[in-house]
Amino acid sequence: MKIVLSVAGAALALFLTIAMFGGAGWTHPPMANKQTGFRGTGMDLIRTRAGNEELAQANRAPDPADPAEASGDKASAVYENVQVLGDLSAEQFNRVMVSITEWVAPQQGCTYCHSTVNMASDELYQKRVARRMFQMTQNINANWKEKHVHGAGVTCYTCHRGNPVPANVWFDTPPAKSSRFIPRNNGQNLASANVGLTSLPYAVFDDYYASKDTPQSLVRVNATTALPESKSKPIQDAEKTFAIMITMSQALGVNCTFCHNTRSVAQWDTSTPNRVHAWYGVQMVRELNQDYMRPLTTTFPAARLGPTGDVAKISCATCHNGANKPLNGANVIDPYPELAHPTTQANLPVGEAKDPIPGTNTPTPKPPM
Ligand code: HEC
Ligand code: HEC
Ligand code: HEC
Ligand code: HEC
Repeated sequence: MKIVLSVAGAALALFLTIAMFGGAGWTHPPMANKQTGFRGTGMDLIRTRAGNEELAQANRAPDPADPAEASGDKASAVYENVQVLGDLSAEQFNRVMVSITEWVAPQQGCTYCHSTVNMASDELYQKRVARRMFQMTQNINANWKEKHVHGAGVTCYTCHRGNPVPANVWFDTPPAKSSRFIPRNNGQNLASANVGLTSLPYAVFDDYYASKDTPQSLVRVNATTALPESKSKPIQDAEKTFAIMITMSQALGVNCTFCHNTRSVAQWDTSTPNRVHAWYGVQMVRELNQDYMRPLTTTFPAARLGPTGDVAKISCATCHNGANKPLNGANVIDPYPELAHPTTQANLPVGEAKDPIPGTNTPTPKPPM
C-alpha cells in the first residue's frame, strides 16, 4: 500500500511540475535586455524578444497619405467654415480630412463629424471636438517638442489608433459609497485601473494629472534627513506616489529602473534622463487636461462623460499605449506640417499655451552626468 501511494504521489508531483511549466505563464527566453543605467546597478529593461516583437507590431504608425499640391485656392476661400486650417490649399485640406478619418473614425467615415446635408455645419459635437483636437495636437508638437515629443511628434493616431475614443482615457473617481460594514474606505481598496488594480489610494489621477495647479510636492515623499522630522509626510502620500509610479511604468511598459536608480529614487542626478523626460510629460499631461479636455466638457454628450459628469482625460498611457516611445518613436509629424504648429490661436486662452511650465516651485531636474 505504501509503495502504491508513493508511486501515485511521485506521478502526481511529476504531473504538477509539467503542468506548471506549461501553464504558469513563464517568461520564455530568448530575452532582450537593454541597459538603462550605469553597469552593475541592475538598471536593465528586461523583455522577451517575442514580447518586443509583439509590442512593435501593436505600435506601428500608419503610412502617411501622399503629399498634396500646396498651390491653388486656400481652404478658407473655397469652404465656408474653416477656422483652424484655412491657410492650407484646398487639396492639402482634403488630404488632412482623409487622414483624420483614417486615424479617428475609419469605420464611420466623414459623416462621423459631418452633417450629411451640410459639410460646413458645426451641428455634430464630434466636429467641434475635432477642431479643438487640431489645436491641441498643434500645441503638443510646437510647445512640447523640445521637452517631450521631440522630432517624432504626435498625430491624432498616436492617441486614437483608429477609434473615436482612445483606448486609454480616465475619469474622475466618484466618492465612495459607504456601506454598513465599511462606513469610510479612506479612498482605497477599490479595484481601479488608475492604480494598476492595487489596493492603493484610487483617486490619484484626479490629484496628479488633472490640473496645472497640482503642487509639485505631491510625490516628494523620500525622507531628506536620517531621522523622522515633525514635518514628515504621512504614509498615504507614499502610497499615492507608488500608485502613480506603478501606472506610469505600465503606461510605458517599463520597470522602475528605466527612470530611477533604486539606490535613491528621489535623487535626480543619479536618475536616468528618462526621468526628466517623464517629468516634462507630467507637466504636459496636466496642461492638456486643464486647457483642452476640461473646457470641452459641455461640448460632449452626457453619454461620453464619466460618473461625476467629467470629460475623458489624458494620461501617459493615452499616447504611449504600453510602449516607451509611442508608435516605437516613428516620426509621424514630418508628413503633416500643418499639425506641427498652431495655425490659428483664436480659441486658445491667451498666454496659456506659450507657458508650458508654470509655477514658481518648479524644480530644475538635472540629467545624470
Ligand atoms: C474627426 C472629425 C472629422 C472627420 C472624420 C472629417 N472631418 Fe471634415 N472637418 C472637420 C473639422 C473639425 C472641420 C473644420 C476645420 C477647421 O475649422 O479648420 C472640417 C471641415 C471640412 C470641410 C469644410 C466644410 C466647409 O464648407 O466649411 C470639408 C469640405 C470637409 N471637412 C470634408 C471632409 C471629408 C470629405 C471627410 C471624409 C473623408 C471629412 N471631412 C471627415 C472634422 C472632420
Ligand atoms: C493626446 C491624445 C489625443 C490626440 C493627439 C488627439 N485626441 Fe481626439 N480625443 C482624445 C481624448 C482623450 C478624447 C475624449 C474621448 C471621448 O470622446 O470621450 C478625444 C475625443 C475626440 C473626438 C470625439 C469622439 C467621440 O466620439 O466622442 C474626436 C472627433 C477627436 N478626438 C478627434 C481628434 C482629431 C481629429 C485629432 C487630431 C487632429 C485628435 N483627436 C487628436 C485624445 C486625443
Ligand atoms: C517613466 C519614468 C518613471 C518610472 C518608470 C518610474 N518613475 Fe518614479 N518618478 C518619476 C518622476 C518623473 C518622479 C518625480 C515626479 C514629480 O516630481 O511629480 C518620480 C518620483 C518617484 C518617487 C518620489 C521621490 C521623492 O522625491 O520623494 C518615488 C518613491 C518613485 N518615483 C518610485 C518609483 C517606483 C517604485 C517605480 C516603479 C514601480 C517608479 N518610480 C517608476 C519617474 C518614473
Ligand atoms: C501627447 C502624447 C504623449 C503623452 C501624453 C506622453 N508622452 Fe511620453 N513621449 C511621447 C513621444 C512622441 C515620445 C517620443 C519622443 C522621442 O522619440 O524622443 C515620448 C517619449 C517619452 C519618454 C522617453 C522614452 C525613451 O525610450 O526614450 C519617456 C520616459 C516618456 N515619454 C514618459 C512619459 C510619461 C511619464 C508620460 C505621462 C506623465 C508621458 N510620457 C506622456 C508622447 C507622449
